[in-house]
Amino acid sequence: MRLHHFIKMMTKVVLIMVVMLRCCSGLSMNYYMMSCPMAEFIIKNSVNSALRNDPTLAAGLIRMHFHDCFIEGCDASVLLDSTDGNTAEKDSPANLSLRGYEVIDDAKEQLENQCPGIVSCADIVAMAARDAVFFSGGPVYDIPKGRKDGTRSKIEDTRNLPPPFFNSTELINMFGQKGFTAQEMVALSGGHTLGVARCSAFKNRLKNFDSTHDVDPSMDTQFMKTLAKTCSAGDDAEQPFDTSRNSFDNFYFNALQRRSGVLLSDQTLMADPKTRPIVNGYAMNQAMFFFDFQRAMVKMGLLDVKETGQIRKRMAAARDRQKSYADKRRKPLEFQVWVLLFHLVFTFPREFRSTARIPSHFYDRYLAEFEFLGFPVHDLYRFLNEVQLFVDLYLLKRYNKCFIG
Ligand code: HEM
Repeated sequence: MRLHHFIKMMTKVVLIMVVMLRCCSGLSMNYYMMSCPMAEFIIKNSVNSALRNDPTLAAGLIRMHFHDCFIEGCDASVLLDSTDGNTAEKDSPANLSLRGYEVIDDAKEQLENQCPGIVSCADIVAMAARDAVFFSGGPVYDIPKGRKDGTRSKIEDTRNLPPPFFNSTELINMFGQKGFTAQEMVALSGGHTLGVARCSAFKNRLKNFDSTHDVDPSMDTQFMKTLAKTCSAGDDAEQPFDTSRNSFDNFYFNALQRRSGVLLSDQTLMADPKTRPIVNGYAMNQAMFFFDFQRAMVKMGLLDVKETGQIRKRMAAARDRQKSYADKRRKPLEFQVWVLLFHLVFTFPREFRSTARIPSHFYDRYLAEFEFLGFPVHDLYRFLNEVQLFVDLYLLKRYNKCFIG
């Protein structure tokens, strides 16, 4: 009988330990809350400053996260430099036009000063993409953190990135292999609401398209002339994906409806009856696009994440042509008050906003950062609760842009 009790008790203990291990080795929304409470804010601040200098970087950061996650999982392998005997992902033709390394470098440097060896590069890339979406007008959303950095980065792995000449069926298959539905694939393609493509990525649509057509027949004739004009300036000439290249909105889907998608892989989403209703839905309802996009981004950010592994100390240096910007940017942390307030309203759990329930360690670390605002923390909490209402209203309006104008 005693043995029976002992076995029952031990089974309970083992079960509890298993549950605890699973909980604590996994990713979580508040992963850095105790170890580096300012992490999220530092990244938000870096992204915001960079975008104020150059709003086109938002596109670069979102694309970087996609290219990181699709190859070897979200492990910052895209940041590693080539070495003697190994050509890294970064040097693959598919990644040569990636941009925004300097923003990640900048955030990493500030984080290493604040809490050394804590925040992984993979998490920085993921959070920077999320913040880039928000600062360019897109949805606000949170992501689980706790990714570790990988060590493998090989050019040959980049064959798993979708090429711009894929048709809808091929895209559905490729994204399907990573666990995405067709709807999620279309929502993620909506990332092309930001940024540009170079002529080299779409010139195949303009000449000798296939055995029966010289020009891609799915393209609007007037738009074909626009693309041809862009290409007359050379392979590197840039064509925005839609009419608002730095605004996160649903104009990309409107462009597809007008047969004015830049890449074949864009226009095919409208041409194929399997994906057309999804495109039409997002073109009509921006809130629906925002909702699906943020969910798909969270899912993408969890692709093959490494929960054990290293935290890289330093980023690989930014590319030479971006270095001067990175060096210029490197200056002491400058807080932007509105970014801080926005950050607090989102990351500071509502239930913690009464001082009685704030863990003292957390309280102390935050307190120092607030001094520059010049008002006591107790007031700050009350103030935050008031700001919350305005933030909620602002976001509701942003979500429903097409309904409330
Ligand atoms: C569906 C398959 C996809 C294909 C075939 C594709 C292909 C491309 C190509 C060829 C470019 C232009 C690169 C250049 O000319 O320099 C590009 C740019 C871009 N892609 Fe994608 N992409 C896909 C999905 C995605 C996803 C899922 C995201 C993010 C969620 C994304 C975000 C971007 C962004 C933001 C840019 C603009 C980059 C800039 O302006 O620097 N793409 N993509």
